[in-house]
Amino acid sequence: MSLAGNSNLIKTNWKSPPADPMVLMQDWVKQAHSAKITEPLGMTLTTVNPAGWAWSRVVLVKELNQASIIFGSSSSSDKGQDIEHNAKVAGNLWWRESVQQIHFRGYATIAPPFKSDLLWQTRSRSAQAIAVCSQQSQPLISELDFKTKVAAWESSEQILSRPLSWNAYQITPIEYEFWQGDASRLHKRLRYSLQIPNIDFAQASNLAELVIKSGIWTQQRLQP
Ligand SMILES: Cc1cc2nc3c(=O)[nH]c(=O)nc-3n(C[C@H](O)[C@H](O)[C@H](O)COP(=O)(O)O)c2cc1C
Repeated sequence: MSLAGNSNLIKTNWKSPPADPMVLMQDWVKQAHSAKITEPLGMTLTTVNPAGWAWSRVVLVKELNQASIIFGSSSSSDKGQDIEHNAKVAGNLWWRESVQQIHFRGYATIAPPFKSDLLWQTRSRSAQAIAVCSQQSQPLISELDFKTKVAAWESSEQILSRPLSWNAYQITPIEYEFWQGDASRLHKRLRYSLQIPNIDFAQASNLAELVIKSGIWTQQRLQP
């Protein structure tokens, strides 16, 4: 295993970490940007299909809000289909330069339409044209036909509206782990678990709001 990188690049108060893991995640991401880490928001997202198979792919985190992690994708995609059947997902951000990973598991849902609209507006016209033309993850019959269609949309005068299948997804974690690797192998690990008395997370209609209002996080250091 290679642990090349600088374990001191990003500072963490391990003796007294924040009570809220999202505060720590936001702090690490902010420091990662300042430290010029490559793609700090590239996140490996794992979903599980109805047959019980896990599948992972990278998506780009677009926003970290008080209780959730937001990314954009198509509900026609494999991940979109998986999430429709099973909202339980896992995510992982790995930063080679600082030998760190943040992983979490939680519940994914399609965000409210205004969120998707806002995210759609941040996409370049070419990215919008591709999303308009793509039934993401469905078979590609002709690459040439696809490219021609995308080019026609992109060069048209029309406003490219968000297709209903393109959405912002929000993941509300119920568990996080912050991992700081060290060449000595004395890695530091900090696990956070969400406690909300008398709540069945899977049944909660707005888990993010509940987390903000009444979430209590327990912390536990783990052996390397
Ligand atoms: C750096 C990087 C960023 C990506 N960002 C996204 C993204 O934000 N949304 C997305 O749908 N796919 C993104 N992709 C493509 C996905 O990894 C994946 O190929 C695609 O979403 C289809 O996945 P699925 O068929 O498993 O649903 C990204 C890939 C890479 C390598």
